[in-house]
Amino acid sequence: MIRSLRGRLFLGLTAIIILTGATGGLLVYRWAFREAAELQDSVLIQLASLAQNGSFSSGRPLLGVEEDTDVWLIELGATPRGPADDRQLFGLKDGLQVVMRKGQPIRLLLRTRPDGSRFAVAQPTAVRDDTAREMAFRTLLPISALIPCLMLVTAIVVAHSLRPMVRLAGNLDARRADDLTPLPQAGTPSELHPFIHSINGLLVRVGLLVDQQRRFVADAAHELRTPITALSLQAENLGSVDLPEEARGRVAALKQGMQRTKHLLEQLLALARYEAAPAERGEMPLIALDSAVKQVVADLLPQALDRGIDLGFQLVEPHMVRGEPVMLATMVRNLLDNALRLTPRAGRIDIGIYRQDEAAILQIEDTGPGIASPDLERIFEPFFRGSSPEGDGSGLGLSIVKRVVEGLAGEIALENITGSDRSGLRVTVRLPLAADRPNEVSGAA
Ligand SMILES: Nc1ncnc2c1ncn2[C@@H]1O[C@H](COP(=O)(O)OP(=O)(O)OP(=O)(O)O)[C@@H](O)[C@H]1O
Ligand SMILES: [Mg+2]
Repeated sequence: MIRSLRGRLFLGLTAIIILTGATGGLLVYRWAFREAAELQDSVLIQLASLAQNGSFSSGRPLLGVEEDTDVWLIELGATPRGPADDRQLFGLKDGLQVVMRKGQPIRLLLRTRPDGSRFAVAQPTAVRDDTAREMAFRTLLPISALIPCLMLVTAIVVAHSLRPMVRLAGNLDARRADDLTPLPQAGTPSELHPFIHSINGLLVRVGLLVDQQRRFVADAAHELRTPITALSLQAENLGSVDLPEEARGRVAALKQGMQRTKHLLEQLLALARYEAAPAERGEMPLIALDSAVKQVVADLLPQALDRGIDLGFQLVEPHMVRGEPVMLATMVRNLLDNALRLTPRAGRIDIGIYRQDEAAILQIEDTGPGIASPDLERIFEPFFRGSSPEGDGSGLGLSIVKRVVEGLAGEIALENITGSDRSGLRVTVRLPLAADRPNEVSGAA
């Protein structure tokens, strides 16, 4: 059983071509053979008309007839005479017939002249059949040459006709998992329309399902935020109560757990928010990228100082981008939070904001361990924290960053910094440049 449609079509069509060719060839061969025999009979009749006037000499191949046609004139005279064979012929009626002569069948046309003398024009049947076969065989040549040509054309047509299907599959394969835009129907053959229609229907249903789940996660996170905040407050209050040493340790662990849960909920909410509403870039306000980053850095400086990390700018150019301020801050905060958490004490984090072509670049380099190459591929997946996760974290930070960057029509690239004397991660975010406002922005910063 052949599974490929192309193989099946090709084999089926080839079988039809060969079968048709063979049947047609056989019929044509038989028809041509019969025609050739009739043609030879008419030659005999014409020769007999000429011999009527006695223009040929008996017993030799007839003049004007090709040697290998082997046509003979047999003069029988007016009365039976000569060899027994000739006398036997005399007993036959005028006309076309086959007789045995010297042990071989002969096609023969017997005629009587007005003066009563009789003659026969004769040709061995074997010679006639050979000629007829040869002529009939020649009619087969075009058909047998046509069959391989038709097979080639069939293969090309089949491959060409199935190409849109291969293209459709390639299109689907190349899609990102979260790309639910409908497949275009334009330019595809009508046979594929039901498939495209069904796939698009499925994409819509998947989209609805994904939306529902996102909303569920967002709602759940939102609903949980209030009780968790209340619990955190209670835990906070416990800190001011005079507790035995052992209980203090437990309260500290409780507070830490609360903090982690709050962080997870906030990250979930952020992710759900940016996944659900990829805002229109044109409608988003102008933001000075450098000011937005400086704001986040200012918030994180105490944390950096705490850990003895040199967090600072290496290069700041004032550039404007379009985006939601909260969205942009969330992205920068998540990137810097990672760098801060993963860079060892006394390390450094360098931030650069500059322009490259039509993009504003935000680059963050740290002196942490970097990300193992095999993990880089999956690092933007939600909840993925690498093969050897360190410390606390939800694994949602980079997913949020990715969503935000995509929402701003930008790109993000992560690469490990390699060198004999250092390691670290370099994060490069490219955002479309909105406008140049150098003086104003640097003045504001
Ligand atoms: N600057 C970095 N240096 C080294 N590893 C990093 C860096 N940034 C991210 N990673 C790795 O990528 C993983 C995923 O990062 P992500 O921000 O998505 O999640 P997280 O930081 O673990 O959790 P969350 O951001 O929600 O608190 C991290 O757990 C860490 O292993
Ligand atoms: Mg993070």
